[in-house]
Amino acid sequence: MTHAPVATPAIEQRVRSILDGLSLAEKIGQLCLANGSGGHVSESLRHAVAEGRVGAVLNEVDPGTVNELQRIAVEESRAGIPLLIGRDVIHGFRTVFPIPLGQAATWNPELVEACARAAALEASETGVNWTFAPVLDIGRDPRWGRVAETLGEDPCLAGALGRAAIRGFQGEDLSRPGRLAACAKHFAGYGASEAGRDYNTTSIPEIELRNVHLPPFEEAIRAGVATVMTSFSDLNGVPATANDWLLRTVLREEWGFDGLVVSDWSSIPELAVHGLTEGDRESALAAARAGVDLEMASTTFADHLASLVEEGRVSEARIDEMVANVLRTKVRLGLFERRRTDPTEVPAQETAVRLDLARTAARQSIVLLHDRGGILPLHPESLGSVAVIGPLADDPYEQLGTWIFDGDPGQSRTPLDAIRELVGDAVEVRCARGVATTRSRDVSGFDEAVEAARGADVALLFLGEESILSGEAHCRADIRLPGVQEELIAAVAETGTPTALVLMAGRPLALQGVVERVGAALFAWHPGTMAGPALADLLFGRACPSGKLPVTIPKVTGQIPIYHAHRNTGRPATPGAIVDIEAIEPRSPQTSVGNAAFHLDAGIEPLFPFGHGLSYVSFAYRNIAVEPAGFRPPGSVAVSADVTNTGSREAEEVVQLYVRDLVGSVTRPVRELKGFRRVRVAPGETLRVRFELDASDLAFHGRDMRRRAEPGRFHVWIGGSSDAQLRSEFELLPPVSGSGQGTTESG
Ligand code: NOJ
Repeated sequence: MTHAPVATPAIEQRVRSILDGLSLAEKIGQLCLANGSGGHVSESLRHAVAEGRVGAVLNEVDPGTVNELQRIAVEESRAGIPLLIGRDVIHGFRTVFPIPLGQAATWNPELVEACARAAALEASETGVNWTFAPVLDIGRDPRWGRVAETLGEDPCLAGALGRAAIRGFQGEDLSRPGRLAACAKHFAGYGASEAGRDYNTTSIPEIELRNVHLPPFEEAIRAGVATVMTSFSDLNGVPATANDWLLRTVLREEWGFDGLVVSDWSSIPELAVHGLTEGDRESALAAARAGVDLEMASTTFADHLASLVEEGRVSEARIDEMVANVLRTKVRLGLFERRRTDPTEVPAQETAVRLDLARTAARQSIVLLHDRGGILPLHPESLGSVAVIGPLADDPYEQLGTWIFDGDPGQSRTPLDAIRELVGDAVEVRCARGVATTRSRDVSGFDEAVEAARGADVALLFLGEESILSGEAHCRADIRLPGVQEELIAAVAETGTPTALVLMAGRPLALQGVVERVGAALFAWHPGTMAGPALADLLFGRACPSGKLPVTIPKVTGQIPIYHAHRNTGRPATPGAIVDIEAIEPRSPQTSVGNAAFHLDAGIEPLFPFGHGLSYVSFAYRNIAVEPAGFRPPGSVAVSADVTNTGSREAEEVVQLYVRDLVGSVTRPVRELKGFRRVRVAPGETLRVRFELDASDLAFHGRDMRRRAEPGRFHVWIGGSSDAQLRSEFELLPPVSGSGQGTTESG
């Protein structure tokens, strides 16, 4: 169900009547988003707001200051238009939920929606009415620090969870207290920054843009997202902030978006740095013409739009269109009716409820990569002692992750704290930091760590990356565990004490040679405020792990980009093909190792595939069925399978549906996620899980850039990861009337 805001005549009339009363200077003021002054109203901001030179403010979260700013805007400025108050409420506000990549690992739209709603409630109490979230960039390069902010590598998963986040932030009625206008960002292609270096160039063929990068944004527009932010990056030679094809043709004309488009921070003057324009004036012109409505932080609109209008280079009609987009958003938010922020109007949510939600979200986000040693879950009754080792075991700040401007580390519960509470006095907890930080190369703490592990029944290692190693502008060229952590793992494992590794990080790490050293490994992302209780719940079996990877985990950095929905190539590698590079005979003939699309030293497979995640029980998948075996649009096919919990306790599983379009007019991915469902299964119980696909689910953009589903055979899999083996097939038949080209236009 979508809640797309409708451009009602009443809203349009209101926008028009406000617009008609504005001078050109006041109109331009509405197009300026200024940075706040951090807990007070600076003289310059006071004047700017009073004189109608600013229409929106970001980074102001003190309710008194926000109210004063709104008062000035409404009472002292001639036009009396309230302000948008923006903030990066990315994965929580004071209460921090898992980073978006972690939330994506829950594969649970309802939960993602609940986290966004809770964050919106907390943030609205301060007067913030606009969040710069969700990030809908596709994250296929884990070197890129902002992969932490994405909803993973897959358009279907990111689209579904992005929609859920928007529902959570905006609700059904954006004008109700406690709601935030959401912002789909960064439009578009930002995730494909070359070499995973932030802000870098992107070169994305249109067909790839349309089939991979744009779909989550299109879903966001359909879900009624109020605003869109441009990307910093250069897309195929035209930076996104001046890309009229993206901002007009696609966003407005094809998708019908009527909210506001904001630039990213200073991305307008940076058009000159890209080399697209000569200076600020031309940058303002390029951005305004291309379709940016509101300028964040920089002042090229304020400085140049008026004279550009006078010279006739920007039409007044364009200015009116920009202002209308801003005003429409303000009207939808109900700002004209709600001038003051009154925290008592915001629906109350008890702290305990919020913390419980943070704990559930963290629990569902954590992925059990393996438990080859069979050491989990731990049973406190049969343990004498446990060693808790690592710099992330007891760090209330670092477990929160990137973008936590307002996060309160004082609320954090750490793993050490939660384990102590859970095991009580009966179990000795031996602590050692091992290394000062995850980046440190100082091994002087190893002895203490080894000592702690040696004397314990089990060792728990809390390693990974502090939050500073991911997020905006925090990219890494080598995504192995930083510092001497690999050596620390080896040293602890050599004690022979059963060891479980918990990794907290803002990106998938290259873990070859690491996870094999330990009995069990959990990937926890940055789990947020309730990291500790969530991890203790899982480690000690109070809950079963149920997270699934929203990104592929490579063996080594050089495999990047590696993702499940790749195309086949003409020479696909045989699964499992890997050459022992040392064993290659000197002067071997060129063909001796095979001519296929794999790395000699890493093969073709990742270390853990997209969708992977184990539980303390096993799930058996059987009896896949398709009904009917062939269908014709507008019909659909039902794909179902039995999922049995073969274990002895209740557990949740994320059932995944993948398809392959065997022959296409353009080559299609070897597997594409087309559906997923989180189900709870009792021990011994079998559930029949059923998905329905119609032609629009099978559609893609072809060579002519039009979306179509092509008749033909499809393979379909149901299972617990992108490696699912239970397969069937169906046929999409041509529509009876036919399209003339044997294809079905859709969506
Ligand atoms: C720059 C970031 O790219 C964007 O995501 C963020 O919303 C703005 N700064 C505002 O902080």
